Amino acid sequence: MKITAAITGVGGYVPDYVLTNQELEQLVDTTDEWITSRTGIKERRLLKGKDQGSSVMGIKAVKQLLEKTNTRPDEIDLVICATVTPDMLFPATANIISAGAGINKAFSYDMNAACSGFLYALATGAQFIQGGMYKKVIVVGADKMSAIVDYTDRANCILFGDGAGAVLLEPSTEGYGLLDQVLCSDGHGEQYLNQKAGGSRRPPTAETVANHEHYIFQEGATVFKFAVKSMADVAAQVMARQNLSHDDIAWLVPHQANKRIIDATANRMGVGPEKVMLNIQRYGNTTNATIPLCLWDYEKQLHKGDNLIFAAFGGGFTWGAIHVKWAYNS
Ligand code: UT7
Repeated sequence: MKITAAITGVGGYVPDYVLTNQELEQLVDTTDEWITSRTGIKERRLLKGKDQGSSVMGIKAVKQLLEKTNTRPDEIDLVICATVTPDMLFPATANIISAGAGINKAFSYDMNAACSGFLYALATGAQFIQGGMYKKVIVVGADKMSAIVDYTDRANCILFGDGAGAVLLEPSTEGYGLLDQVLCSDGHGEQYLNQKAGGSRRPPTAETVANHEHYIFQEGATVFKFAVKSMADVAAQVMARQNLSHDDIAWLVPHQANKRIIDATANRMGVGPEKVMLNIQRYGNTTNATIPLCLWDYEKQLHKGDNLIFAAFGGGFTWGAIHVKWAYNS
């Protein structure tokens, strides 16, 4: 019998501190009206405090996931963390999250595919389940974007927020879970969205710090054009491959980078706004956490058997779409 990887639970966490558009108006030359109309964002959450990394949020999301699914930490086989803001370059943030959540019989590692990282990690985690060797895999998306945002750069500082979300994957023999995927990358996109320094090409120096090279660099309008086309293309491609019409889709679960990109993807799929998960107005772009945080916010509205299309676009460039048949009623 064919084994598929079903999502059997969702956990999430966003920090308490709310950074509003009004507060950003005090920091840079911008307005609530500009931010709202260009992006759909009203506020985002920030993780404050000394020595607080993405793992702090990942641990909270994973602990909640274990509790909600009545899973003991020692039952978990594997933890994959998708992040662009690891606590340190090494060891992996997934290791730190596992230790913090009491998970002591799993192997764990990080994945970096920028904003598409959660989809890549989900597809990877599903392979371990489908292979039949592993029974419980946690996929976490955790990012403390405020650690790499330049709060003097008005084009970028308005976009990002901090958060973490996690899902549990378990085997299904009834056809629930991840059923198809289209994942893509193109390294020529490197120049448009990156963090220039801090890696092996440009290790940190006083000069790289002075030049703001440890912050996100983004050529927004170029990324926007690629994102609109690519996210819509792959979502449509997965629907066609799965013979799904817009009526068959219960939810589009899009990466939350810009409401205009989300609207374009929904239009191309032919699904109305009532079928689109949206929380960008409250959290901004939390990079790897956007999709699991959508599931976390909308979990009660999901029904067993619902067809969901996850879609994302991000740095790299990377992009992709996944078809998931939802496995449970809350
Ligand atoms: O998740 C990873 C992938 N990332 C994305 O998908 C993000 C994709 N890009 C975007 O979402 C949009 O490009 C942005 C929201 C970043 C920018 O929106 P835009 O409509 O593409 O604006 P723009 O960059 O073309 O800038 C238009 C104008 C410029 O002024 P001039 O040159 O026309 O005078 C900017 O300087 O808006 C100005 N501007 C701002 N004005 C007020 C840029 N940022 C701001 C701001 N407040 N915060």
